[in-house]
Amino acid sequence: MASSTALISDTEAWKDLKGHVEDIKKTHLRDLVTDANRCQSMMMEFDGLLLDYSRQRATVETVDKLLNLAKAAQLTEKISRMFNGEHINSTENRSVLHVALRAPKDAVIKADGKNVVPEVWNVLDKIKEFSEKIRSGSWVGATGKPLKDVIAIGIGGSFLGPLFVHTALQTDPEALESAKGRQLRFLANIDPVDVARNINGLNPETTLVVVVSKTFTTAETMLNARTLREWITAALGASAVAKHMVAVSTNLALVEKFGIDPNNAFAFWDWVGGRYSVCSAVGVLPLSLQYGFSVVEKFLKGASSIDQHFQSTPIEKNIPVLLGLLSVWNVSFLGYPARAILPYSQALEKFAPHIQQVSMESNGKGVSIDGLPLPFETGEIDFGEPGTNGQHSFYQLIHQGRVIPCDFIGIVKSQQPVYLKGEVVSNHDELMSNFFAQPDALAYGKTPEQLQKENVSENLIPHKTFSGNRPSLSLLLPELTAYNVGQLLAIYEHRVAVQGFVWGINSFDQWGVELGKVLATHVRKQLHSSRTQGTTLEGFNYSTTTLLKRYLETSSEPQM
Ligand code: F6P
Repeated sequence: MASSTALISDTEAWKDLKGHVEDIKKTHLRDLVTDANRCQSMMMEFDGLLLDYSRQRATVETVDKLLNLAKAAQLTEKISRMFNGEHINSTENRSVLHVALRAPKDAVIKADGKNVVPEVWNVLDKIKEFSEKIRSGSWVGATGKPLKDVIAIGIGGSFLGPLFVHTALQTDPEALESAKGRQLRFLANIDPVDVARNINGLNPETTLVVVVSKTFTTAETMLNARTLREWITAALGASAVAKHMVAVSTNLALVEKFGIDPNNAFAFWDWVGGRYSVCSAVGVLPLSLQYGFSVVEKFLKGASSIDQHFQSTPIEKNIPVLLGLLSVWNVSFLGYPARAILPYSQALEKFAPHIQQVSMESNGKGVSIDGLPLPFETGEIDFGEPGTNGQHSFYQLIHQGRVIPCDFIGIVKSQQPVYLKGEVVSNHDELMSNFFAQPDALAYGKTPEQLQKENVSENLIPHKTFSGNRPSLSLLLPELTAYNVGQLLAIYEHRVAVQGFVWGINSFDQWGVELGKVLATHVRKQLHSSRTQGTTLEGFNYSTTTLLKRYLETSSEPQM
């Protein structure tokens, strides 16, 4: 067993897997998938979901060795420590308890000795009440009109998760019905173009602005919040802020200082990481305003179902654990640096961008949790697009260029089925034909011999050959309701945590985002003094000086 300061790469289990890579290199997926027993052991079902990882470059033996690695990494203990509220985010001295955000009312989850579930439900109840007031029109704006449009301002974790869920629910029949006549928009980028796009067509009289920021100090969010406060006050007067602006934050003192009534602030806690905060008021408030609390509650229940599975299922049957281990296998042993997230669902178009933050901000680390430099890479480059759009874009590289393990996510029942009389299949079947075909195309490939039999001309054979042996996994969801969206979210959140637990890193801090912020502060000061006092550029290297000079000399920014 690894001691707390040992690196996982020093363990026998890790070395065993390193040696095993040579065995796997001798295999081809087109052969591995013919072994029905192997494939059967690589199917996992839970709560309506079906995971098939038989197209991973892994044998039953590989999985056993990965389970040994999990034991060497004390994975089960680490999962328990998370659920028990221990300060596993050691560099910030915090618990990691996003699971408490979706726990049933009677659950007991403690942080620093105190059950946090009642506090969570206090805020949820407050959101329920507030969102019902807004939706029913009993809360009106400064001029007496109902607030039918919402702009949620926030960035990173205060944006990507809520946007993903909103996009996923937009065409769900139940959610669609309950969102009638309402709009939800997200303002994230500090680019003023994003402000212009967000307010385009909206009337301040009927708009509610929700400022979402864990810290309430994020430069982009705060400037955007001041910009929309100006938009509201210019039209309706300063007193309108009380009716038209609310906040979600852990920093209620700064919310008040900003001028938002603390009664209209929705709290969360420092044991919720930004990228894990969509189940807090960060996501629940804007989503409840749009869809009603009862729809959002189903989303929380779906996530909670996976939490319980993750907490209590033995590792060999535990979906997030298996997914996490397979990702570690692909990254650290087979050497594949990327992962493609390919939902065959337009409603999941914002899933990959959200998982990019969850995964890359969590696991893009260079040292162990004890601060030791790592002799192996952690994290992976996550990217993705819905199928079939991706097929007509980057799949060429996936099929014949680099090897990129793919997650295929399919939905059995479409949110919006269409069948045209006379067509061979329904539109959703057409979509899903691709979902079923792509993993086999990647796994089997196409050999020169097959091409010769098809009389392909010799000069084209190298171009039309597919090496195959490209790993993927398939996750099939019964439908895409709010509940299933919650399940999907929690699976990926926990999978990322599993990867970090095995690699022995802290998946819950994000020091890597700080340096750029500090340097931007220097530039901001320089821009201010150059524009107001004509100060010459100082303290920048040749490159930045040249670029800044060009920017200052040629830009037409309004002068202060
Ligand atoms: O810059 C990264 C980050 O700190 C993320 O971790 C976080 O999700 C985002 O900024 C927004 O932070 P906040 O919610 O405090 O505004």
